[in-house]
Amino acid sequence: MDADRAAAPAIVAGGPEEDMARRRWSAPRRALVTGASSGLGRAIALELAARGCEVWLAARRVGELESAAAAIRARGGRAVARELDVRDAERVVACVRDWDRECGGFDLVLANAGIGTGRRRGVHDPAAEQELWRVNLVGAAATLCGALEPMLARGHGTLAAVTSLAGRRGMPGSGAYAASKAALTAYLESLRCEVEPRGLHVVELRPGYVHTALTAQNDFAMPFAWPVERAAAVCVDALCARRRVRAFPWQLVLATSVLRVLPTGLYTRLARGLPGSKRSADALPAPEAGA
Ligand SMILES: NC(=O)c1ccc[n+]([C@@H]2O[C@H](COP(=O)([O-])OP(=O)(O)OC[C@H]3O[C@@H](n4cnc5c(N)ncnc54)[C@H](OP(=O)(O)O)[C@@H]3O)[C@@H](O)[C@H]2O)c1
Repeated sequence: MDADRAAAPAIVAGGPEEDMARRRWSAPRRALVTGASSGLGRAIALELAARGCEVWLAARRVGELESAAAAIRARGGRAVARELDVRDAERVVACVRDWDRECGGFDLVLANAGIGTGRRRGVHDPAAEQELWRVNLVGAAATLCGALEPMLARGHGTLAAVTSLAGRRGMPGSGAYAASKAALTAYLESLRCEVEPRGLHVVELRPGYVHTALTAQNDFAMPFAWPVERAAAVCVDALCARRRVRAFPWQLVLATSVLRVLPTGLYTRLARGLPGSKRSADALPAPEAGA
């Protein structure tokens, strides 16, 4: 785990290191959070604002964004609500760049917007799968790309995204979702290698189950599911500390780490018992009679 944490300096009370450390671990001053109209994004936005950060909240449902921004202002915080559909990659890049100029420079941009496979979305329905990838992967990459140029020009800033423990291995019934998160993990790792030498940080937030609208659709048990406020607090701690990867809860981190090293044949047999397996089996075309 420690290898995933950007090295913390040894702190001498009152010394220059203390000042540096405070700046290093403190909350960002201005942050953009996508998917901030509900769930984890909303809770992270509120938590960032509570720690003194000016938060720009983006998503499609403007009414929900305005109500989250109003809640922040009512507690003495600073918030701006902006409509954004992350499926439109060109517009996302342009908006992030414009808003960055408008606010005086984000020091954190968090690509959180995401959708799940959900009961209503078909398993192996190409249109539903493409929609999911456009939001979870194309949208997230566009959000980070929009922030990249201005952050590189300033030589500091944190690019972050929410992936999932579901991306650690194939997930029957949620293949498109698992693939979107696995790809985003690889994207973030690549980006980190590129931009860390230029003074930027890349943070991957990798939750297990969190109680939100996304998981309310799940018709299976969700082991070790966390309340959204608890998840948001852990995510904001990781963002402030510039952790490279923050995965939680530990029980599922451990379980997925074990699953990850299993040989393919053994995993394929074991995965039949995972949540979603039955749903995907039901969704596949039945074999022809006599086959
Ligand atoms: N809940 C979990 O157990 C869990 C676990 C691991 C990872 N995650 C990840 O956490 C992130 C947040 O999910 P959540 O659980 O908080 O779900 P949620 O409550 O459903 O929130 C999803 C957010 O994404 C936004 N969004 C969806 N489509 C969008 C689009 N086209 N353009 C812009 N925003 C869009 C939604 O806003 P609008 O509808 O207003 O646009 C909403 O604010 C997702 O990336 C998800 O994959 C969740």
